[in-house]
Amino acid sequence: MIKIAIIGAGFVGKIHASSFKNIPEARITSIVDISKKEGKSLASEIDADYYPDIDILLESNNNIDGVIIATPQFLHFEMVKKIVKAGKPVLCEKPLALTLDEADKMINLVEENQVIAMVGHVVRFFPEYVAAKEIIESKRIGEPLFCYAERLSTPPDWAAWRFDEKSSGGAALDLHIHDLDYLMWLFGRPVSIRSQAVFNPSHGGIVHISSMLRFRDGKTGLAQGGWDFPISYPFTAGFNILCDDGAIEWGFKAGKNIEKEKKKSDFLIYLSDGNIKKQDIDSTDSFELEDRYFIDCIRNNRKASICTFKDGRDILELALAAIESAKANKAIYL
Ligand SMILES: NC(=O)c1ccc[n+]([C@@H]2O[C@H](COP(=O)([O-])OP(=O)(O)OC[C@H]3O[C@@H](n4cnc5c(N)ncnc54)[C@H](O)[C@@H]3O)[C@@H](O)[C@H]2O)c1
Repeated sequence: MIKIAIIGAGFVGKIHASSFKNIPEARITSIVDISKKEGKSLASEIDADYYPDIDILLESNNNIDGVIIATPQFLHFEMVKKIVKAGKPVLCEKPLALTLDEADKMINLVEENQVIAMVGHVVRFFPEYVAAKEIIESKRIGEPLFCYAERLSTPPDWAAWRFDEKSSGGAALDLHIHDLDYLMWLFGRPVSIRSQAVFNPSHGGIVHISSMLRFRDGKTGLAQGGWDFPISYPFTAGFNILCDDGAIEWGFKAGKNIEKEKKKSDFLIYLSDGNIKKQDIDSTDSFELEDRYFIDCIRNNRKASICTFKDGRDILELALAAIESAKANKAIYL
């Protein structure tokens, strides 16, 4: 049995904890949270031990086999450092860090200590996003030309730290980064990015951002992300992809946030002969698939090849370029 600790018993820590109900090879044995109330509540719910901080966990010698970091991003660097130096495999939530300097140091630490390391860019496990990438790679509907990807939500008021730009990086680093990640995963490293943003200093700086991307072979992308929609607005995400012999479209609407997925659209492939094909998609939750992959890497003592720290660093570079572009009102060449 693989024993996992989760650091951070907030919104996403609970989602990870819940995934493990469906992963029989592994168990969450430890929960760490600075808030005794949050930490103890989740720990007792899943029959795990509670620790008030990461140092006490790592000193406790409780034989954990891996750690999931689900704390705010301004804490990722210091926490990864401690976990990697202790030789434990780590799955760190996105964004990997707040600066490229931190991300580069994290990559070096992982290399030096030869530990398994993943960053939680969960879109790369989301069955619909994966299915669209597979269709594109199979060339079933020709060469891809353009992708639009969006993610819209109400203000994340359950986590006040997000409204401090220095702690979260605003909606660009926290939310928009998922769609920038998808565009880069589909089409590779872009040549340039041009972003425009809506700013609200009391809600984390950038609260809404649109980014146009150009890729080396002429493909283009457009991503839109924002968290200042009125509280009546459902969490909305999806994409449409234009290829030279068809198009793919999918999206979903949820409740206040992703955990209450309500209305998924059909996954549709529009063909150039006039037909529309509906594709059935695996309904396994994306966080469960991500956690399963992490556990699989630990069980087989294999480095992760999906969502590596290098991926996390490159996505961070792109999201930071989007912020720079929006603030300076100019295109950024990468
Ligand atoms: N992959 C995704 O789709 C996704 C979705 C949501 C959040 N996230 C990421 O997950 C991370 C957490 O986000 P969240 O929404 O769950 O935040 P949250 O505020 O709901 O939860 C964070 C938890 O960390 C705890 N914490 C804070 N400082 C701590 C410390 N020093 N030691 C131990 N615990 C500490 C807090 O008490 C809180 O319970 C962020 O990096 C966020 O970007 C990813």
